[in-house]
Amino acid sequence: MPGIIDAVIGLQVGDEGKGAESHRRNADPRYAIAIRPTGGDNAGHTAYVDGKRFALRQIPTGILHGKTSVLGSAMCVNPLTLMEEIAMLEAGGFDTRSLLISDRASLLLPWHIAEDQLHEDMLGEARIGTTQRGIGPCYRDDCNRSGLRLSHFTLPWEECRTLIARKLDEAAGRIAKLYPSFAETRFRAKFHWGALERARERLAPVTIDLPEFIRKERSRGRGILIEGAQGAMLDLRYGTYPYVTSSHPGVLGCLEGTGIAPRDISNVIGVLKGYATRVGGGPFPSRMDPATEQLVQTLGREKGTTTGRDRHCGWLDFVQLQYAARLNGVTGIVVTKFDFLHKLSELKVCVGYRKGTELITHVPADLEGIEAVLADAPKWRQPIGEARCRADLPENCVRYLSTIERTLEIPIIGLSRGPNPDDTVAW
Ligand code: IMP
Ligand code: MG
Repeated sequence: MPGIIDAVIGLQVGDEGKGAESHRRNADPRYAIAIRPTGGDNAGHTAYVDGKRFALRQIPTGILHGKTSVLGSAMCVNPLTLMEEIAMLEAGGFDTRSLLISDRASLLLPWHIAEDQLHEDMLGEARIGTTQRGIGPCYRDDCNRSGLRLSHFTLPWEECRTLIARKLDEAAGRIAKLYPSFAETRFRAKFHWGALERARERLAPVTIDLPEFIRKERSRGRGILIEGAQGAMLDLRYGTYPYVTSSHPGVLGCLEGTGIAPRDISNVIGVLKGYATRVGGGPFPSRMDPATEQLVQTLGREKGTTTGRDRHCGWLDFVQLQYAARLNGVTGIVVTKFDFLHKLSELKVCVGYRKGTELITHVPADLEGIEAVLADAPKWRQPIGEARCRADLPENCVRYLSTIERTLEIPIIGLSRGPNPDDTVAW
């Protein structure tokens, strides 16, 4: 019997609490392997172990459970920050020997970061608000068929160095032409050759052929948890383009990043939080009024894990959630961060969009000029505190959650009311 394969994905714009959910799921012995399919260190997955906070960027939370933890094929791997992450985990007492990397993953190198930053500066007011981690330029090189992959990183160092040096020449020349402010000489002088060589020494031996690895592991009945990053609305194709990331955070990316066939995925777990947030630029029809937003930022600690930026906050957007759930074939929902909503003086949900006089009930390709149609949601005033099961929840809170289930036509399979793995409510 082949092992179970499940995927955890974000149904909003990232920061739904996927990290905590993946961390919780990894306690299940049916999963032997954790795979992060897409993205890079633009992500920040927060997980608590014995009350201690760990912010993972590229490594799946499976590592916290000693599971085989794989950086998947559709990732752009920054070897330098990956080394920092490994060091951070080891300092925390975790064994990182179970870390593996797909040889098809893209290699993110320092010029990608420079290009991301320069491009954002050039856009000025029209900037995407990227995390400035080089993600877009790295994927751009992939699409241009000119990028380096982890397979190149495993070549003997002299050969690898020659390849990187050639790409560095191309990139530095290109950037200097495009951006007069680029200090080419300094960039070259500061290039991290030593650190790259050390990273290669650590990472090359753990770089694997992922489809072949998965074939073997599945034949031994080992189960897999795919730990998605970012959220459905940041999808390059189906998200709020151009205010998106450059990968596919939903199931599309789970397939691309693992090489697993669609029919082999048993459950797609969609994580959403009890309200909406967005970090960076882009349309946000259900955004709250400034006073409520500020309150939610404080109560929900809505600051970016990776960039430290304040996240914009909004009401739960049912139009967007239905779209994301449908596109990703979500089989079960996990709701996070609904535990402080009783402190708000009002609670609203977005039930439709308006463009001028036109009512819209789907997510259009361009959200420019779209306004939210808001409805009042049932309010509750009692704190959820130590609620353990549905019966412990205030009646209107149950109603709020039931509306999510009914609207998406997908069962809730998990409720999280705090950052620790056992802060859950049985539904
Ligand atoms: P990039 O992925 O750095 O290119 O950024 C593109 C957009 O995606 C920006 O709006 C970022 O704020 C957003 N983004 C990227 N990664 C995350 C994440 O992990 N959580 C939330 N937003 C993200
Ligand atoms: Mg995050």
